Amino acid sequence: HKDRDTLMEAPMQLKNDRYLRALMRQPVDCTPVWMMRQAGRYLPEYKATRAQAGDFMSLCKNAELACEVTLQPLRRFKLDAAILFSDILTIPDAMGLGLYFEAGEGPKFESPLSSYAQIDALAIPDPEDELGYVMNAVRTIRKNLNGEVPLIGFSGSPWTLATYMIEGGSSKAFTKIKKMAFADPRSLHLLLDKLADSVILYLNAQIKAGAQSVMVFDTWGGVLSPRDYKLFSLQYMHKIVDGLIREHDGQRVPVTLFTKNGGMWLESIAETGCDAIGLDWTIDIADARRRVGDKVALQGNMDPSMLYAQPERIEQEVELILDGYGKGSGHVFNLGHGIHLDVPPENAGVFVDAVHKLSVKYHQD
Ligand code: CP3
Repeated sequence: HKDRDTLMEAPMQLKNDRYLRALMRQPVDCTPVWMMRQAGRYLPEYKATRAQAGDFMSLCKNAELACEVTLQPLRRFKLDAAILFSDILTIPDAMGLGLYFEAGEGPKFESPLSSYAQIDALAIPDPEDELGYVMNAVRTIRKNLNGEVPLIGFSGSPWTLATYMIEGGSSKAFTKIKKMAFADPRSLHLLLDKLADSVILYLNAQIKAGAQSVMVFDTWGGVLSPRDYKLFSLQYMHKIVDGLIREHDGQRVPVTLFTKNGGMWLESIAETGCDAIGLDWTIDIADARRRVGDKVALQGNMDPSMLYAQPERIEQEVELILDGYGKGSGHVFNLGHGIHLDVPPENAGVFVDAVHKLSVKYHQD
């Protein structure tokens, strides 16, 4: 029966699988592209849906509305992937730290951590219980994507989550967490280990709920010395890579590690066994490719501020980055960090179209 066959094949059959193919370094017709923070305040329709939800966390906790904002950028631009609408701070919130957002000040915690006893008392959240709202969002989004493009799940890295949990919010100098790292390393390692276990459960639950690839955001790994990066950040991302489901429903589930300002450490990041490394704009992608060879795919790496430029300048920058990566698959185009909230949406459209149009020649032999 034809209808039944189509229905049975539907979940596996992606209409556009460029993003997954590039992560696995398989041939593609052109370079896939998505944007970090592609759902967000630079889109007026996002602001409208957020206003409807009330606040940001209520938006994350409402599967229908989280799905709506996930799909909004895909309606405007020919993006090759969707990313779950949520936040990295869901895990610390589920651990009981009391996440809240103060206008213009970013995320904050009511009960930041400062002692071994507090860390010892933390429980590892059950992804289908305290974080069940995230899994509901994944299932709803996956259903509504209807096989158009793959869905990316994500989490913060243990180090990056710990910075917020110990500093109590965003930070510039990271003195509280570094004090713990150097004066009381036993406490910090206990926290990082619990976070790694939490992230493994959380990402595996997202994969089971329908995420077809996962990304770990290590936004603050780059504030550490090379030795301390390995000890306090990379070691725990390595543990996560080892604990992840790498094949689901007969499909490889690629994992991307992104350390902002981690350009110095690409070889060590590649050794974790991840499929791809996310690059910020402070490294030349040509150097990055020379250094990692064919070990991993690369994602990046245009400066998000380039989206303030004129269309010709954006296209020129896209061409330079495509040329830097060179011929062949293994490149997922992206910004080197999240899109700024005052970027004109049309400029994002210029960027996405330029990647598709200008990259074709790098995939012909
Ligand atoms: O990329 C996407 O479209 C998916 C959604 C996404 C959000 N946060 C939504 C969000 C993702 C992948 C994140 C990850 C995240 N969150 C990171 C890692 C990536 C990075 O940017 O480095 C970090 C460090 C956070 C923590 C966090 N959450 C910050 C610093 C902020 C910004 C606070 C502010 O007011 O600017 C948030 C809130 C947040 N997360 C917003 C969005 C769209 C803005 C909230 C709003 O609507 O007001």
